[in-house]
Amino acid sequence: MTENNVPEGAGSNPPSLDVQGDGQSIGVPAAGEHENVSYNPTGGPGIHHWQRAEITQPGLDERGSVFFAAIEMTRMPIILTDPNLLDNPVVFANRAFQDLTGYTEEEVLGRNCRFLQGAHTDREAVAELRHAVEEGRAVSVELLNYKRDGTPFWNACFIAPVFDKDDKLLYFFASQLDVTRRRTSEQAFRQAQKMESIGQLTAGLAHDFNNLLQVVSGNLELALSRTDDESLRRPLENASRAAERGAKLTKQLLAFARKTRLEAKPTNLNTLITEFGDMLENSVGPQIEVQLNLRSRVPAALVDPVHLEMAVLNVLINARDAMPKGGCITIGTSKVHLNGNASAHHLPPGDYVALTISDEGEGMPPHVLERATEPFFTTKTQGKGTGLGLAMVHGFVQQSLGRLEIESHHGKGTTIRMLFPAADSQAHAPRQPSRDLAHAEPKGQAETILVVEDSNDVLELAREHLTALGYTVLTARDADEALTVFEKAEGRIDLLFTDLVMPGSMNGLALADAVRERSPATGVLLTTGYNDDLLTEGKASAGADVLGKPYRRSDLADRVRAALNGRGRERRIPEAGASRGPRHEG
Ligand SMILES: Cc1cc2nc3c(=O)[nH]c(=O)nc-3n(C[C@H](O)[C@H](O)[C@H](O)COP(=O)(O)O)c2cc1C
Ligand SMILES: Nc1ncnc2c1ncn2[C@@H]1O[C@H](COP(=O)(O)OP(=O)(O)OP(=O)(O)O)[C@@H](O)[C@H]1O
Ligand SMILES: [Mg+2]
Repeated sequence: MTENNVPEGAGSNPPSLDVQGDGQSIGVPAAGEHENVSYNPTGGPGIHHWQRAEITQPGLDERGSVFFAAIEMTRMPIILTDPNLLDNPVVFANRAFQDLTGYTEEEVLGRNCRFLQGAHTDREAVAELRHAVEEGRAVSVELLNYKRDGTPFWNACFIAPVFDKDDKLLYFFASQLDVTRRRTSEQAFRQAQKMESIGQLTAGLAHDFNNLLQVVSGNLELALSRTDDESLRRPLENASRAAERGAKLTKQLLAFARKTRLEAKPTNLNTLITEFGDMLENSVGPQIEVQLNLRSRVPAALVDPVHLEMAVLNVLINARDAMPKGGCITIGTSKVHLNGNASAHHLPPGDYVALTISDEGEGMPPHVLERATEPFFTTKTQGKGTGLGLAMVHGFVQQSLGRLEIESHHGKGTTIRMLFPAADSQAHAPRQPSRDLAHAEPKGQAETILVVEDSNDVLELAREHLTALGYTVLTARDADEALTVFEKAEGRIDLLFTDLVMPGSMNGLALADAVRERSPATGVLLTTGYNDDLLTEGKASAGADVLGKPYRRSDLADRVRAALNGRGRERRIPEAGASRGPRHEG
């Protein structure tokens, strides 16, 4: 009980009795005692309703008064039980109780109310009811109950004792209220909040890791390019591989946080799965058969194929782990049209492509299913799983404007369905991903690049790479310094290569705007450890103008060249408005 709930004079001093009908009935007001754990239908704290009653006319036969009619008319379910009969059975149930539970009067009378409980009813809540009933006092509990047809519902149940003049316990009164809607939306809200905050934390960490990995792998690359000594190359290459694995992990984290830089393009999922075939079979091992069920004439999906492969692999490995004795995994594709049923899938109406992966494994019990997409949630032994697989898949599918649906029954296998928007061929012409460009590193033609970066190590590395590629490099550590350098250079700067998120008054986007204003012919290339919201919102810049960290030298070479070649062309950079500014410093 909190102070706020208690009316003046209540609490430490027992509240005064409420005497009704010249003493025919006497009640003890609730005084705010029975609302904290359970739903309170009147909104504020329950003060006046009774938590205990004394009556002078026992018996249930008198049904002629307006009070009986009121009980049958109210939409609040109400029952009475008789604790003096064996097992405290129900002796009265009003019409609203029958509406709520679906049981008829005959089916209810004579039974203990525990028939409403079932497999997932919280045993602690039941114990709370039991103790209160044993002690003959009021109690208010929310617990999961089941209707006659098996539908579960959350029951906000309030129980209170009824005595006679001599303090003999005669009945228990109870009201039940279906609070499922509130519970479900509260739970969804809590889960969404939790995922959002884990996402922010994860994105921040991954961003910092990317900066570190950039320095590690970039310097390893430099060192490797400077030595032919085999005894040195081996450990350097081992270190490079480890850094690459680290980069892969941070990619999963960013994918979960929906901050991956996705290069969505029309992708034929049938082709992708078929081409990926060997790799799929190898990753699940000889015990498991992979069956393809690919429908012909499935439209292209608008999705990033590289990330999709990673998602499929994660799901397959889960399926493999769920079938330690072997079994069959079926991968299917199909076209899905959503119109009236779109909101059930939480997607806008339209054409979608479904990629379905089913296994015959152990399936997930409800408490695992509920948390399966949470990052770091795993049921696997230490070292076996990081709990990032489905988190990545979930984040990726959401960021792709699709939806992840998981159907799983304990002991009966799991089906993972990813829905992706179908590509409407005109609007989304395929964009060449940078890694498909010429493999020889395009060299500089003595152009001048201004590199802006607040991390010294990253700045140093960029300078080394770009100089080695044949560019002249000027540097600055924040936007103000960059503008000073820019002015001094008097038009010599061909490209601004700037970090997106920087301390100081201006971020990379604002700096880019300032530079364009002074010199529209100067090219701009942004770089960032993660796809900040302001980049995901400004679609146009998401592909061509941003280089993600950690980047390889060849990526840098490609993107710098592309930015230089595209100089002066109209490019849309999202507004660097304060409200959409980066949230993460560094
Ligand atoms: C008046 C009254 C109403 C009750 N209503 C419910 C109810 O709606 N749902 C429920 O799960 N249990 C209800 N119970 C609790 C069960 O009847 C029983 O007391 C509880 O399951 C604990 O006892 P047990 O451990 O022997 O089952 C009610 C009990 C009383 C006395
Ligand atoms: N196909 C499946 N069958 C049964 N349980 C599954 C299946 N897929 C996922 N799960 C359950 O969901 C949990 C989370 O899966 P997720 O892929 O996110 O992490 P993980 O597999 O445990 O670790 P990681 O994928 O990072 O190696 C798993 O630990 C497992 O309990
Ligand atoms: Mg996994």
